[in-house]
Amino acid sequence: MLEVKNVSYSYEDGASRRLILKDIDVSFKSGTFYTITGESGSGKTTLLSLLGALDRPQTGDILFNGQSIYDDPSTYLSKHVGFVFQSYNLIDYMTAYENVKASLNIAKVNKSPENIYGLLNVLGIGKDKADRLVSKLSGGEMQRVAIARAIAKSPSILLSDEPTGNLDEQNSRFVCEMFKILAHKLDLCVIMVTHDLNLAKKSDVIYRIYLGDKRLIHETL
Ligand SMILES: Nc1ncnc2c1ncn2[C@@H]1O[C@H](COP(=O)(O)OP(=O)(O)OP(=O)(O)O)[C@@H](O)[C@H]1O
Ligand SMILES: [Mg+2]
Repeated sequence: MLEVKNVSYSYEDGASRRLILKDIDVSFKSGTFYTITGESGSGKTTLLSLLGALDRPQTGDILFNGQSIYDDPSTYLSKHVGFVFQSYNLIDYMTAYENVKASLNIAKVNKSPENIYGLLNVLGIGKDKADRLVSKLSGGEMQRVAIARAIAKSPSILLSDEPTGNLDEQNSRFVCEMFKILAHKLDLCVIMVTHDLNLAKKSDVIYRIYLGDKRLIHETL
């Protein structure tokens, strides 16, 4: 479904370029929960931004259902990709409900209030919390709202960069369990970057980027 074909990526470093990812060849399928691990600076965030078409590789291509994501990156991003970040990136002066609604408006997807409240409820955010400013929710609750916001438009791909980085163990486990359910029950392709090998073990497939090697290696823990 999402095919990374011979992708290499380098950043500009003064007059030269510094290679971060080398000859990445991998396919991500729907209905599967993937994790990507690797040392700090190995290129995990870089790879995720390529998968979300936020950046472009110098060589190679990334295909979504057979078409290059760079043909029409904004449609790909708005229709097919949901993002969940470490720092939630919610709009502070809006309620949880309004945050989800606003992202649906951007994606031009219409959902009823019942539908939005229902989705938040499935993620453990009842009506009282859904109508609260997100700045008045706990970190764990904010991340649940961020997940609701990412999946409300029914994307095919969920990309998440260290979503548990600011969470305690219990909330981290909840996020992973939710990602697994989303992959298996809603047929999403979930790709989560994490440092935490115990969380990575909860995913279906683990990949690791090695700093020196710059390639993506299938890992069995
Ligand atoms: N905009 C940029 N310009 C130049 N170099 C960059 C840029 N962004 C990242 N880098 C470098 O690219 C390398 C990979 O960065 P990246 O953020 O992808 O790593 P990471 O695996 O996500 O690390 P971490 O676990 O610390 O989040 C690092 O050496 C980083 O310093
Ligand atoms: Mg990173």
